[in-house]
Amino acid sequence: MTATTSPANGLFDPSKAYKEWEVNGKYFGDGREVALLEYMYNHPSLPELRGNPTKILAAIDTFAQTVTGLINIGESKGHLVTSVIAQHKPTTILELGGYIGYSAIMFSSAMKAAGGKHYYSVEKNPLFAAVATALVDLAGLRDTVRVIVGTGAEGIQRLVDEQLLQDGGSPLGMMFFDHHKPSYTADLKLCERLGLVGAGTVLVADNMILPGNPPYAEWVRATVAEKKAKTEAAPATDDPGNPNLQYKSRFVKSFEPSGMEDALEITECVGIEA
Ligand SMILES: C[S@@+](CC[C@H](N)C(=O)[O-])C[C@H]1O[C@@H](n2cnc3c(N)ncnc32)[C@H](O)[C@@H]1O
Repeated sequence: MTATTSPANGLFDPSKAYKEWEVNGKYFGDGREVALLEYMYNHPSLPELRGNPTKILAAIDTFAQTVTGLINIGESKGHLVTSVIAQHKPTTILELGGYIGYSAIMFSSAMKAAGGKHYYSVEKNPLFAAVATALVDLAGLRDTVRVIVGTGAEGIQRLVDEQLLQDGGSPLGMMFFDHHKPSYTADLKLCERLGLVGAGTVLVADNMILPGNPPYAEWVRATVAEKKAKTEAAPATDDPGNPNLQYKSRFVKSFEPSGMEDALEITECVGIEA
């Protein structure tokens, strides 16, 4: 594989490339997640991994580079997100699509280092959520990360019912979208309508090239006037979200852990139009 350049994120190091995701027509859920858990807990350096998120992420990367590819965000895109966290210092982060906990371990550590407190990771697949919970525990992040089993919408509603996302009336610090691609816009609009998004909230969306997400990109890049027009033209049954939120959005290119080019959409809510 040849190294490619990205204006935003330097060179991809081919020696760190994950193995192919696709094995016998499957990309995940074929036993590789349980194999990862066994690999981690049978690791010869287990005592040094315990309570050390950096070493745990490196061991997960080694598994994905040498045994089977995993659909984690990986180092290149992951480091873009940790620099957003260091800059914006969110107190609470809501992640939709947790998989085996790689991004939860990486981003919750960055959030803790920046003074943040709560990381909620919603994952639809109960087996993946169980693996994530065990790896979060190994990383010593049990007090910071809570893994919730359910779809994005179910998880958001449960956390709202438990009054865990309102943060004393402040909007959420950050949301990370990495789940079912057609649900990004619907779940963002649900959070907007519930008042969880406000001035200062940062939205990070993965896979904006692979496979891309035009409805989400259109919503977060639109002006308030454009969003109001879209909402008026939409069927009354559609969630209107909150078209008055003013977003500043950028498309940042980077790499999948396989070395393929991908991008994040990083959006800041800069105000609310009266
Ligand atoms: C690309 S993986 C997430 C990777 C993870 N964020 C990381 O970088 O370590 C996508 C995950 O979203 C989950 N998922 C799919 N549809 C979902 C939904 N509607 N709500 C929540 N999770 C969902 C899948 O089971 C899968 O584990």
